[in-house]
Amino acid sequence: MKKITIIGGGNLGSAIALGLVKSKLAKATDITITRRNLSKINHLKKEGFRMNNNNNEAVKNASLVILCVQPKQLASVLSEVGSSVHRKQVLVSTITGISTEEISSYLKKKTAIIRAMPNTAIAIGQSMTCLCSKDASAKQLADVKRLFDGLGTTLIIEERLMKAATVLAASGIAFFMRYVRAATQGGIQMGFDAEEAQLMAAQTAQGAATLLLSSESHPELEIDKVTTPEGCTIAGLNEMEHQGLSSALIRGIMTSFEKINGIKK
Ligand SMILES: NC(=O)c1ccc[n+]([C@@H]2O[C@H](COP(=O)([O-])OP(=O)(O)OC[C@H]3O[C@@H](n4cnc5c(N)ncnc54)[C@H](OP(=O)(O)O)[C@@H]3O)[C@@H](O)[C@H]2O)c1
Repeated sequence: MKKITIIGGGNLGSAIALGLVKSKLAKATDITITRRNLSKINHLKKEGFRMNNNNNEAVKNASLVILCVQPKQLASVLSEVGSSVHRKQVLVSTITGISTEEISSYLKKKTAIIRAMPNTAIAIGQSMTCLCSKDASAKQLADVKRLFDGLGTTLIIEERLMKAATVLAASGIAFFMRYVRAATQGGIQMGFDAEEAQLMAAQTAQGAATLLLSSESHPELEIDKVTTPEGCTIAGLNEMEHQGLSSALIRGIMTSFEKINGIKK
């Protein structure tokens, strides 16, 4: 994966470029970033990245091409570069809701396609990224996984689960943010100022997640450790459940899933 071209240097494209360099997976000079309005990423030029507003030219010498444009921009981008992409290249698409089958329909030659679904925490190297592939060898998939592993945690899944992954891990950022905000509001009501309350809520959320990620623990086991009989934690937790906390979360996730599947208008 010597030369990398990122088509669409917006939020995600720029975050991937910076993350690859920060994690020492690629040199800035080996990464070309394209967009129509290059002046908006002048700061990246100063970091050594190559810039181009000609997608065809940018794709030519790349071993890996990462598509980071909006879904509505995909057709024009792939009609433009579809005939330039060749068999030895790997095409990664981060575009939400677009299948590998649809991407391959724009390409003249059979090409390894890998679909990636990261989340916004990719900007700080903490993404949960799901990958699936079409016509990619085990090595090509492993090489791309290694790149995304440098930007967080990566899971290879079946393509049929890609929409579910979008809800759980990409929309999931918003769901956890809402919990942190609600906990902050509780903290403010108990007497902390907003800044202190947010720090305490966010650090506690991070601590809870790290407890699960760093050991083989289970949420219920960790809950049992902090719920003293007749204590304040179990009283609060049971009240949250009486108010439908778990049910609201599951229903919210399923509503997002129905929406992404086009079942809910
Ligand atoms: N943000 C995330 O964390 C996240 C997570 C998962 C998936 N995604 C997916 O990633 C994709 C990009 O999201 P984003 O948030 O980064 O969007 P964004 O900030 O709007 O970036 C899209 C970029 O594409 C460029 N672009 C448009 N047409 C182009 C063309 N013909 N050639 C080259 N560049 C072109 C735009 O710049 P110009 O207008 O200057 O060309 C823009 O900078 C979306 O499909 C989204 O669904 C994003």
